Amino acid sequence: MQVFALFGFVAALIVGLWIFWRSKHRNLPCPTTLIALLDNPFTRGYHRTVLARLKLEPGFRALDAGCGPGLLTVPIAQTVGPTGRVLALDVQPGMLERARTRVAKAGMTNVDFLLAGLGDGKLPTNTFDRALLVTVLGEVADKLAALKEIYGALKPGGFLSVTEVLPDPDYQSAARVKNLAAQVGFRVRNHFGNFFLFTLNLEKS
Ligand SMILES: C[S@@+](CC[C@H](N)C(=O)[O-])C[C@H]1O[C@@H](n2cnc3c(N)ncnc32)[C@H](O)[C@@H]1O
Repeated sequence: MQVFALFGFVAALIVGLWIFWRSKHRNLPCPTTLIALLDNPFTRGYHRTVLARLKLEPGFRALDAGCGPGLLTVPIAQTVGPTGRVLALDVQPGMLERARTRVAKAGMTNVDFLLAGLGDGKLPTNTFDRALLVTVLGEVADKLAALKEIYGALKPGGFLSVTEVLPDPDYQSAARVKNLAAQVGFRVRNHFGNFFLFTLNLEKS
């Protein structure tokens, strides 16, 4: 009985902290000090799903937008290979530094790094076959500006892959992502997964 009470208390505490974080820290980039939380078996599991849904091919140009510590940047660089190229972008220098170290350790030389906020207008236009936003959109203050910039950066026929996962405190629902994407001109190409973990592939029309 005591075990159940303890379990209930811990669960209520986690939910309470989650609600508190979400209400107080909307649009705040994930602090660099929490990097360790990103690198865990749960994240690695759904990252494999993200990569499968991205449908990358050798030679592709890919934009890892909000790359964080580069957990996805490395497998993307490996998949597009020496004839392809990846741009890893993040608004936090600490995150980009971790990504740079991870990429160097993996021996990849086909990755460029860009310290910039999405929506700042720093991306080249008509350049990428794929772009991805994995648990990033909820942290971005001006979501429409960010999506517009990514839309412009994609080649015609290229697509942006947006993945949202619970219990990320910045989780955005699929309906909200679709609504924002439509305002920018994206067409929904695929909707994978479920409420708890979904990916929307959004095509530049
Ligand atoms: C939860 S982490 C996810 C990292 C990575 N996508 C992954 O799945 O491992 C969110 C990342 O988005 C970045 N970010 C937040 N707001 C941003 C913005 N406006 N422009 C670029 N990056 C941003 C944060 O700095 C952080 O590294």
